[in-house]
Amino acid sequence: MVRKVLMKNMRKIGVLTSGGDAPGMNAAIRAVVRSAAAMGIEVVGFRKGYYGLLNNLYEEMNARSVSDILHRGGTILQSARCPEFKDPEARKKAIANVSELGIEGLVVVGGDGSFRGARELSISGVPTVGIPGTIDNDIGCTDYTIGFDTALNTVQDAIDKIRDTCRSHDRCSVVEVMGRDAGYIAVNVGIACGAEAVIIPERDFDFKRDILAEIKAGIKRGKEQHLIIVAEGVTKDNMSALKMASRIEEETGIETRATILGHIQRGGNPTVKDRVTASRMGVAAVDLLNQGIGNRIVAVSGDAIVDYDILEGLNMSKSLDNELLGVSEILSL
Ligand code: ADP
Ligand code: F6P
Repeated sequence: MVRKVLMKNMRKIGVLTSGGDAPGMNAAIRAVVRSAAAMGIEVVGFRKGYYGLLNNLYEEMNARSVSDILHRGGTILQSARCPEFKDPEARKKAIANVSELGIEGLVVVGGDGSFRGARELSISGVPTVGIPGTIDNDIGCTDYTIGFDTALNTVQDAIDKIRDTCRSHDRCSVVEVMGRDAGYIAVNVGIACGAEAVIIPERDFDFKRDILAEIKAGIKRGKEQHLIIVAEGVTKDNMSALKMASRIEEETGIETRATILGHIQRGGNPTVKDRVTASRMGVAAVDLLNQGIGNRIVAVSGDAIVDYDILEGLNMSKSLDNELLGVSEILSL
């Protein structure tokens, strides 16, 4: 690795963050800029994701431009969703901009959608490497996505506080956490915070069976406070967290409050795990580009940093660990 770091094959690369932001994206940007600097490669940072690529919003970056960002949430390059980028005609403009700037490779930090854009760029001759950044941890080819651990800790801290007041009043709390299509946040904090029920998009949902029966069984066992965690994907397709709370109150007589944690989960200083993973991924992405290798997604497999062809990576799937689901259920007694 050290030997490769000293080799310089590319002269200039670009970096951008795209899709929903996640804590640790700054650590990834810093790693890209500094590892490139160590190889003598210039770096251009595009602002606001693919929108910046289309509209030439960029800045030259060097080792000093990324000082003092490692510990900060959000992304200094900002992020955006840019539907226009799905249009091949619009993308031609981005490719022309990249070529005019003399950029020979690009690093994109984002989720599945961003990787689809990265694949299109690679096919069009701009070698592009994706780094998975999303609090949802829902990218099939990687065991871990940047931001997940920080989000878990933010949610755990919030729920611990909700529990304090729940205990004082013998109440039930319904807490909605993020996760559009995935229950990774919900299940993990369900275990960490001792939820009685965890409702996730990966499983069918039935209010009476999954919530009401659990609370009633808890009451029989002598429980006086109750915590229900529900992933956002479920409330969008079924019943809102507020509606769940009012139905619980109606049908059990227990005072119930709903809390929607929302975007608090996307901010905050990244944890050690997110900083270290993002740093390792950033270095690996530049290393690939410097070897002339594009169209890859950097990923975590066990403890190792690996990489996959983008299409192969996008076609991979992962499912919630049954052991984790089992632990969550057994301990909710
Ligand atoms: P995420 O990367 O977090 O999954 P999105 O799905 O919103 O977030 O995707 C981020 C951006 O990636 C989109 O706004 C768009 O600019 C780009 N993108 C998504 N899908 C495609 C596609 N099929 N082709 C080209 N670009 C895409
Ligand atoms: O993908 C990350 C995520 O935070 C999802 O959990 C959530 O559904 C979505 O982004 C929210 O997106 P936005 O910030 O665009 O509302």
